[in-house]
Amino acid sequence: MAGVTDSAFRIMNMLGGADPVYSEMAHVNALSHGGKKTFNILSADEREREYIVQIFGNDPEYFKRAASAIDKEGVPKKNYKPIKKSVLKIIQKMRSLITGQETEEFIFFMKNFEKFNADAYSEQKINRVKPAVIDINLGCPARKVFFHGSGAALFTDQKKTRLVLESVLEATKIPVSVKIRAAVQEVSMFDFLKNIEDLPLKRIMVHGRSLTQGFAGQIDCPPIKKLVKEYPDREFWINGGINDWKEAQRIVRETGCHNLGLARGTWGDPLLHYKIKNNFREETVNEQVKKIQAGILSLIHTELNIQSKGEKGIFEIRKHLAWYFKDFTGAKDLRKKLVTIKNINELKALLEKEVL
Ligand SMILES: Cc1cc2nc3c(=O)[nH]c(=O)nc-3n(C[C@H](O)[C@H](O)[C@H](O)COP(=O)(O)O)c2cc1C
Repeated sequence: MAGVTDSAFRIMNMLGGADPVYSEMAHVNALSHGGKKTFNILSADEREREYIVQIFGNDPEYFKRAASAIDKEGVPKKNYKPIKKSVLKIIQKMRSLITGQETEEFIFFMKNFEKFNADAYSEQKINRVKPAVIDINLGCPARKVFFHGSGAALFTDQKKTRLVLESVLEATKIPVSVKIRAAVQEVSMFDFLKNIEDLPLKRIMVHGRSLTQGFAGQIDCPPIKKLVKEYPDREFWINGGINDWKEAQRIVRETGCHNLGLARGTWGDPLLHYKIKNNFREETVNEQVKKIQAGILSLIHTELNIQSKGEKGIFEIRKHLAWYFKDFTGAKDLRKKLVTIKNINELKALLEKEVL
């Protein structure tokens, strides 16, 4: 997700049980010119596995150059250091208040975090990371993207889509995948598959809503099931509206897909991956315990983000902080304060005052 799935967010989700993680999308024209800012959007810690970078654009030639640049040079490497002692101290203090009451998924996250933090910062000389997959965005409806003939608009031009895919496949040995929608205008996912029948694209991530459906409503499973059956050699991953295990179960059962993609459901809830994988049923957990857990997650996320982006990380983290506390009754005032914090000390003080 553009503006959301930066390195710190991806790591939070990885620690919460995600398998592959996707970058924000990066424009092929800028990548072709070696654009530093755009390459930085794709930067990642080498422990982010499996790391998928997503590219978008409209011109097959630029797609080719961008894929070739990623193949040859990789993307910039992040270097996370261990979390500051002062932050760890408050995390420990918060945890001590909920010992024995922590939720299963939170314990899972903290174990992963402790491991991640313990082996942070190796002095290795490498400064680039090779992504595991290059993904092509053929589903984005955002005005800026669509009206330049990219994303979902490219999907409607089948001839060009094919050229783009051929160019990328020719330029790199890194596996290539695509992200599509169920339908855009008169082009459906069936038309898309037919058009690329002979191309070695293993994985297809389908946002199971049409362009007209936008971002709302349940996805329609029977057509996807038909597609999965028609193309047994492809791997179909499905996303759209998966916010709990029940919906995840329904989609797996009714489509026969190979994997699922989570998007907005992970906002403020990086533990959703674990919950879905473990058929988590909503249990009654003390609000205060959940609030303290949210406080700990928000501190770790903020620290990672500042390490990753420097001081401007604090501004980008504000929306995430509000998301961590979105489900608590009476937390409106807290959220209002969270979106104004200027440094991690203010966050620590606020959590101590309002959450503990
Ligand atoms: C703010 C935002 C940014 C997004 N950016 C991207 C993107 O860069 N690439 C992409 O493939 N999908 C992007 N998406 C779409 C999501 O990946 C996903 O397909 C969509 O939100 C449906 O899933 P959901 O209902 O679980 O959120 C974005 C969605 C949102 C809300």
